[in-house]
Amino acid sequence: MSTKEKLISHVMKEQPIGCQNKVTVVGVGMVGMASAISILLKDLCDELALVDVMEDKLKGEAMDLQHGSLFLKTHKIVADKDYSVTANSKVVVVTAGARQQEGESRLNLVQRNVNIFKFIIPNIVKYSPNCILMVVSNPVDILTYVAWKLSGFPRHRVIGSGTNLDSARFRHLMGEKLNLHPSSCHGWIIGEHGDSSVPVWSGVNVAGVSLQSLNPKMGTEGDSENWKDVHKKVVDGAYEVIKLKGYTSWAIGMSVADLVESITKNLHKVHPVSTLVQGLHGVKDEVFLSIPSVLGNSGLTDVIHMTLKPEEEKQLVKSAETLWGVQKELTICLERGRTVCCLQRKRKAFTIYTPSTYCMLSYTVVCTRVCSLYLCIL
Ligand SMILES: NC(=O)c1ccc[n+]([C@@H]2O[C@H](COP(=O)([O-])OP(=O)(O)OC[C@H]3O[C@@H](n4cnc5c(N)ncnc54)[C@H](O)[C@@H]3O)[C@@H](O)[C@H]2O)c1
Repeated sequence: MSTKEKLISHVMKEQPIGCQNKVTVVGVGMVGMASAISILLKDLCDELALVDVMEDKLKGEAMDLQHGSLFLKTHKIVADKDYSVTANSKVVVVTAGARQQEGESRLNLVQRNVNIFKFIIPNIVKYSPNCILMVVSNPVDILTYVAWKLSGFPRHRVIGSGTNLDSARFRHLMGEKLNLHPSSCHGWIIGEHGDSSVPVWSGVNVAGVSLQSLNPKMGTEGDSENWKDVHKKVVDGAYEVIKLKGYTSWAIGMSVADLVESITKNLHKVHPVSTLVQGLHGVKDEVFLSIPSVLGNSGLTDVIHMTLKPEEEKQLVKSAETLWGVQKELTICLERGRTVCCLQRKRKAFTIYTPSTYCMLSYTVVCTRVCSLYLCIL
């Protein structure tokens, strides 16, 4: 009899229920690990799974966290490059991929990270078909769209971390200007997580007092207090941090944990996160952008209709057009049985290529049906 057998006698006959609140983080780089530690320190899961392609780094990061288990309230921390380790996750956070180089825009990253997603997303779906997918990798809005297409999940289960971070940066800077804690400074950055993000000046308030009613020029060139600079600092913030320390990590990690908390604790809290906005605020294209959205344990269940001023709505539409400009250049390949179909949005008529014959068949009508079926994005 082993020491364990002498010490412990098992009384339960049935199989244990297993983990109820498992969270997976894909990618154990700077953002992935900052997200992982933030999730752990907030006690948001009963099991944390980590996945990466760099085996030694993955093992090292997992061991380092496991050695701190005494100080945590998470029963299990597991890691593997095989996605079976992620099975039955409630939330899967995707941070894998290339990051911006100094001075590089988020949109520039698109093709590199789309290729990585072709591998990651089907594996997540295979092992956690009911999970909520949270995309963090950049360009986050486009990659959330890509993840949505690749996963086949309903839209409420695919969320981009979006401008939750931009809004946090805005509220921090607003707090500095007013000498107040950011939680008392209310302001929303919507639209693209990136250069074309939209500050909603009409909604900026402290204790319900609209700052624009006190300073009607707020956010305009003519404002002597130069509040516009607060938004400029939000947009430039990531570039500056990357220039100074090489990457951004802590704030995005905490922002991810904030979102995961609303999901796992079913808080129904409103966050600016990336979701399908087609048909809202005059956006015509099939793009993901951040708008205030309700997060709970079913995912993103509702969106809030903001009372935007025409100028703000115009900027949001422009943000959507910027993203669509990049997105429409993507060639989406769909695999159905033995037929690989390439759907080139650039062309007016969609074209399907079959690998067996390499003949081109002009197909216009079935495309939307094929679209929902599956699979790879080039
Ligand atoms: N949405 C946001 O607000 C936000 C903020 C900061 C960074 N980011 C983005 O997050 C991403 C990660 O940034 P980072 O600084 O952690 O980069 P990083 O280079 O430190 O880490 C990326 C990790 O992804 C892993 N990876 C690559 N291909 C993989 C694959 N196929 N499967 C699993 N893992 C894979 C790498 O091995 C690496 O460990 C970047 O795209 C970055 O731009 C987003």
